[in-house]
Amino acid sequence: MVKHGLYIKANPKREEDSSSLRVGRCLVEAVRRRSERVVIEEIDVYRHPIPLIDGPFLSAREKMAGGSAPDQLEPEERASLERVHRLTDAFIAADFYIFAYPLWNFGIPPLLKAYIDTIKVARKTFRYTPEGPVGLLKDKTAILIQSSGDVYSRGPLMPFEHGSRYLRAVLSFIGMERIETILMEGMDTAREEREMKRRRAMEQAEQAAALLFA
Ligand SMILES: Cc1cc2nc3c(=O)[nH]c(=O)nc-3n(C[C@H](O)[C@H](O)[C@H](O)COP(=O)(O)O)c2cc1C
Repeated sequence: MVKHGLYIKANPKREEDSSSLRVGRCLVEAVRRRSERVVIEEIDVYRHPIPLIDGPFLSAREKMAGGSAPDQLEPEERASLERVHRLTDAFIAADFYIFAYPLWNFGIPPLLKAYIDTIKVARKTFRYTPEGPVGLLKDKTAILIQSSGDVYSRGPLMPFEHGSRYLRAVLSFIGMERIETILMEGMDTAREEREMKRRRAMEQAEQAAALLFA
């Protein structure tokens, strides 16, 4: 059986200038080397227009919640909903996910947030039940690759990290149980140290690739 992966890149830098994208590429190549029965599609949120939640999307959502059928929506409402749902459906169809991004102002880059808005969708990736919300994406694996200037896994900045922590929260909310994180921290430092940390992250990426076939 062929495994389908999505490589979600969220960094406007050129790949050669970005630690997160270089490690992301290393992981994608490691996965491809492990099996020919893998197809990985790349979504570059800085080059592929990600639809934003807009007015027509919100009114469509409200009408649908009130019981309207899709053909009762205005054309612009339907178009807005379809733009978002195309990405939701592509996400649901994949077996594994690789996210590569830098930490910006304690969080994820805004266009990655826009992408997350397209995958956390009620009745598609989670649903409400009398016992509370239930994630619908089971048996999927996500690997997060995050690069940050400072250190958050220990020390005084710990409470400020809302990048990998936010992504883990969203992905587990929609049902994912296997989420691995490769953190490169303290990257705004001397070149040698940055390169050493990047090499270590690339070794972790090689190991993480094995997880997808475990
Ligand atoms: C706009 C911007 C905001 C940033 N905000 C943070 C931050 O809040 N915390 C942090 O540790 N590093 C921050 N950084 C530094 C980057 O996270 C760091 O340089 C990272 O290694 C970049 O990864 P990249 O090489 O993949 O782009 C910021 C960088 C930029 C450009």
